[in-house]
Amino acid sequence: MNPLRHVAIIMDGNGRWGLKHKKSRNAGHRAGLNTVEVVIKESIKNNIKYLTLFAFSTENWKRPKKEINYLFSLLENFLKNKIESLHKKKIKLQIIGNKKFSSNLNKLLVKSEKKTKKNNVLQINLALNYGSKLELIEAFKKLQKSKKTLTEKNFKQYLQTKNIPDPDILIRTGNTQRLSNFLLWQVAYSEIFFEKKLWPDFNHEDYNRIIKKYKKIKRNFGNV
Ligand code: FPP
Repeated sequence: MNPLRHVAIIMDGNGRWGLKHKKSRNAGHRAGLNTVEVVIKESIKNNIKYLTLFAFSTENWKRPKKEINYLFSLLENFLKNKIESLHKKKIKLQIIGNKKFSSNLNKLLVKSEKKTKKNNVLQINLALNYGSKLELIEAFKKLQKSKKTLTEKNFKQYLQTKNIPDPDILIRTGNTQRLSNFLLWQVAYSEIFFEKKLWPDFNHEDYNRIIKKYKKIKRNFGNV
């Protein structure tokens, strides 16, 4: 059975779910937050150590201002209301992406990271204003500056996911099969699961079905 340390998720389909059920994309984002709580709980039950969630990409700034503001207010309320309970469950929160938000949100993010930094039950990497191409360019620049030799090992040290094992599983919900500039380097050998369901409909049974299937896959990593 394959060991499972890291699951990464592209939580797609909130907007479509919201329009279908409540005539508002934002209602879909609110519903999507419940699924976030489900996967956190199930990840702990499955002894998964890293959960990376794509919450906002560098391209998502193109969305209407009303939707962007709503997403960040959801995030702000989530942190304000839940950080204590995440901390009690020994969950560590780490942001990947560039923290270029309002100064209030930036402070809240830094405070949440600081508060939970010694926790070791589950590390949640929340990808916010994250884009893989930007991450790779910044890593190259830092490596160049350091004058170290360009090797895989040296390069990885400048990624935002340094010290985190690559994802074993990548899940994308929402019936779309693309990577959308998410962890392009890190998913080189991940097992990828594209799910038809929209993110708010994705449930603990779906998650556990994927985990069960993953554990039985023969992973070769280029070998035979
Ligand atoms: C993609 O669906 C989803 C997002 C861009 C945001 C994800 C946010 C959440 C799940 C809620 C907030 C999370 C936290 C951790 C506070 P989409 O809007 O692109 O859906 P569509 O493809 O149907 O338009």
